[in-house]
Amino acid sequence: MTHQTRIAVVTGSNRGLGYAISRKLSQIGIHVVLTSRNETDGLAAKQQLSSEGLDVSYHPLDVTSNTSVAEFTHWLQQTYGRVDILVNNAGINPTVKPEESSLLTVELETMQTTFDTNVLAVLRISQALIPLMKVNNYGRIVNVSTEMASLSTISDDYYPLAPSYRISKIGVNGLTALLAKELQGDNILVNAYSPGWMKTEMGGENAPFTAEEGAETAVYLATLPDGGAQGQFFAEMRKFGGPIQLQW
Ligand SMILES: NC(=O)c1ccc[n+]([C@@H]2O[C@H](COP(=O)([O-])OP(=O)(O)OC[C@H]3O[C@@H](n4cnc5c(N)ncnc54)[C@H](OP(=O)(O)O)[C@@H]3O)[C@@H](O)[C@H]2O)c1
Repeated sequence: MTHQTRIAVVTGSNRGLGYAISRKLSQIGIHVVLTSRNETDGLAAKQQLSSEGLDVSYHPLDVTSNTSVAEFTHWLQQTYGRVDILVNNAGINPTVKPEESSLLTVELETMQTTFDTNVLAVLRISQALIPLMKVNNYGRIVNVSTEMASLSTISDDYYPLAPSYRISKIGVNGLTALLAKELQGDNILVNAYSPGWMKTEMGGENAPFTAEEGAETAVYLATLPDGGAQGQFFAEMRKFGGPIQLQW
């Protein structure tokens, strides 16, 4: 790794989409810091990518914990002095719970836990890492969202009601738009995207696409040129054969 090598942090990269994004970023010469809340799982993922000859490192990170984020940020600062790319991928989806089929039954505790992981954690880690982007006047932040959070189509789409998940991802979209507004003028580009329905633990076996396909748009957004898209919501590139913006 040279001092010009880009450094990327991917949350929840021990499996699923986060792992696929990490592999793709490292395959194009970016140094990826894999992270996970479970150290054994994260180290196994790192071992696998290292065995493929990819330049990756690993550090534990529970995105819902102030202590874990502070410790991780300190380690990043000491080890690299900066970060260039942040992919906010870690997420949970409680939609399988029967109470999640109606806003009249959804449990507020589930909604809080989902918000904590899917929204507040994105803010927590962005607050911690953006100062490490500003030192080099360069940053790309990719927030993993979903088409299910598109307010302009929500009234007649065919997805399950899924209130905790959807409202949390609407929060991610709002956070993306506001953060991008605040960072205008800095060379830190913040965008959200929908990876599509993928075969992961969250997506299940019936999903039509792989995590590798879902990772394509993340790589595109993580490597935007200076002056590229800011504060936008993208669809998965696999579906449209290129970068297409979704309606918020
Ligand atoms: N799968 C789909 O069809 C689909 C569609 C649209 C959007 N997405 C989004 O894509 C992203 C990745 O989903 P996926 O399909 O890859 O799901 P997944 O296989 O369930 O993976 C979720 C990842 O998030 C991690 N995570 C959860 N809570 C965490 C925490 N507190 N700290 C750190 N890591 C945490 C998990 O770690 P553990 O292994 O420790 O649980 C796991 O690595 C999510 O944001 C999801 O909402 C997925």
